[in-house]
Formats: sequence, structure tokens, C-alpha cells
Amino acid sequence: MVKVTVCGAAGGIGQPLSLLLKLNQNVDELALFDIVNANGVAADLSHICSPAKVTGHQPANKEDKLAITSALTNSDLVIIPAGVPRKPGMTRADLFNINASIIRDLIANVGKTCPNAAILIISNPVNATVPIAAEVLKKLGVFNPKKLFGVTTLDSVRAETFLGELINEPPKSLKGKISVIGGHSGDTIVPLINVNSTISAKSSKITPAQYKEFVHRVQFGGDEVVKAKNGAGSATLSMAYAGYRFAESVLDSLAGGKTNTSVVPETSYVYLPGLPNGEELSKKSLNGATYFSVPVILEKGEIKSFINPFDSLTITENEKQLVSVALNGLEKSIAQGTNFVKGSK
Ligand code: NAI
Repeated sequence: MVKVTVCGAAGGIGQPLSLLLKLNQNVDELALFDIVNANGVAADLSHICSPAKVTGHQPANKEDKLAITSALTNSDLVIIPAGVPRKPGMTRADLFNINASIIRDLIANVGKTCPNAAILIISNPVNATVPIAAEVLKKLGVFNPKKLFGVTTLDSVRAETFLGELINEPPKSLKGKISVIGGHSGDTIVPLINVNSTISAKSSKITPAQYKEFVHRVQFGGDEVVKAKNGAGSATLSMAYAGYRFAESVLDSLAGGKTNTSVVPETSYVYLPGLPNGEELSKKSLNGATYFSVPVILEKGEIKSFINPFDSLTITENEKQLVSVALNGLEKSIAQGTNFVKGSK
């Protein structure tokens, strides 16, 4: 029995993400939690003729803890797109004041109710909300770094799409052949395009100006959507696809259906010191940064290992420069997230 819980299920990301999860044959129960409209979305999805049983969980008032507890009980995978999205002119960091406490409180419930679940954090700013989640779980004594994932898949999806357009390759064939490391906002996002020899040969034909534009689009592609939606939010449909793509990898690994070698690693923002060889990567190549996106290899719903970009992938001098810029931004966000929990009661 595999149970998946979505927190923030009635939102712009939550609804299409829940739809995709409802279609996954490995899901037995899909619990939808939101402070509004969770029951409506659940009723709607429950009519789809796929195996997952859909349940809605919506608190009757602020004091009602039963809804979140029932949504999380026995959950194997918790996915969190709860919180506010950006409006034009806002950076992801501007969301911190509202989303930090939403993540803190939801994760406290996860830690108490289903401490063994894999947790996927979508809510922004991911660079800080993942450290918040880790600190809350540490306080509760249930932190498993192999099961806490910041979802950065949308950056990979964008990189595959944009590079595919530039070098005339079907984007689908680029999955796993380029890697996006670092964090999930602006210049903390670092696309690596030379990790595969075929792609590298084709990419070498793009001009320096095209490369610069490509990097900028991957780093700031979210702004294109925020601007086009003109106040109605940020990426929701592409994010639901990306979040589902990562969730599907976790579900495949839980079901044990695919061997590790046949699964293309997805990149995720993770706590390195808690992973095998993670401390070494952090100290040797990342100036001691504790959170960083790396391609992860999953087994039974948790990280078995990760690919060290500096040992295993080809990184150009230019990409190393991008990493050093990324580390500056990450340091601030990690400290902000960590201190937020350390300062709370
Ligand atoms: P939205 O406003 O459409 O939906 C958010 C949902 O969260 C709403 O239904 C709201 O009722 C719910 N919510 C608020 N507080 C809650 C709580 N305490 N418990 C449960 N549910 C709660 O926003 P949207 O567009 O779905 O975005 C959600 C988050 O995802 C934002 O923080 C956004 O910045 C982030 N995001 C992350 C991306 C990534 O790549 N990781 C990409 C795009 C957005």
C-alpha cells in the first residue's frame, strides 16, 4: 500500500499535480490537504477510474488538527506546494515571510505523524524552506536527510527544453544528459551542459551570446511566467509536471520496479552532510555549503547515493564561476531558513 499526501492540494500547482498522481498506478491512496477546497478537489478527482482512493482533508477552523493528522497518517510520500506564489516584481526570497511559517508548521505535523515519509518541498523559497524543514525535523529527533528533497526539477525541465530548442534535439532525449545544480532561484541555479559527449559536441556550436542567453533563461525562466500571468501567480502547470516527474521517481523506487541503473537520476536540493560522501563534497568543492542540488540516485524512497558533479561530470571554468556566485546566494538563504527555526519556540 502506497499513500501519497499533497499539502496545498487545492492550489495552482496542487490541483494538476494531484491529477497526475491520481493517474499513477503505484498510488493506492491519495490524501489531499488544503485549508480551502480540499474536499471539492478530492470529490472531483475521485471520479477518475484509476486505482488510487482519493480523500479530502480540510480543517473546519484554525484549531482543527484532525484534518492534517488524518491526511498524513501512514503516508509514504508527502508533497508540499502550500503557500503563496510570486507576483510581478517579487523574487522568491520575498515569499519567505509568509511561506516560512507555513512550511514550519506543516513539517512539524509530518514529523509527528509520518516521520518515515519521503518529503518533497515545492514551496518557495526552496533554498530556505528545505533548511527550515530539516531544522524542524532535527528538533523532533526524526530528521532523515536521505528523505528530504527540495524540488528543483523545473530547472532541469526548463534547461532540457531551452537547450533542445537551441541545438535542435528533442528535449526528451536530454533528460539526464544535462544537469542543473546549485539552488532554486536566480543565479543560484547552475546548468551544466557538457556532461554528455554527444550533447557537448552539439552545444559547442552555440555562440557565446546564445550560451549566455540560455543560462539566463534557465535561471530566470520563472520570471517569464510570472510576467505573462500578470499578477495571477507563477508557474503552475509546468511545475506540476516537474513535481510529478520527481515524485514518479520516488514512487518507482518505492515500488522497487526499476533497477537503479535503469533510472535516470533526477536532481534535488538536499542536505549534504547527511549523505554518504556528502560532507566531503561540501568541504572540498562548495566552501562548506550544507545544502546543494545534485543528481540523486534513489532506492526504496530514499537517496542511495548522489553524483558528485565535480568528480563525475565535466564542469567548465565558466560553470565553476557560476557555482561560486551560486554559493554566495545559497549561504544567505540557508542561514535565513536555519535561523528562522532556531529562533522559534
Ligand atoms: P497557490 O496560491 O495557487 O496555491 C497554494 C495553495 O496552498 C492554496 O490552495 C492555499 O490554500 C494552500 N495553503 C496555504 N497555506 C496552507 C497551509 N498552511 N496548509 C495547507 N495548504 C495551504 O500557489 P501555487 O502557484 O500553487 O504555488 C505554491 C508554491 O509553490 C509557492 O510558494 C510557489 O512559489 C512555489 N513554486 C515552486 C516552484 C519550484 O520549482 N519549486 C515553481 C513554482 C512555484
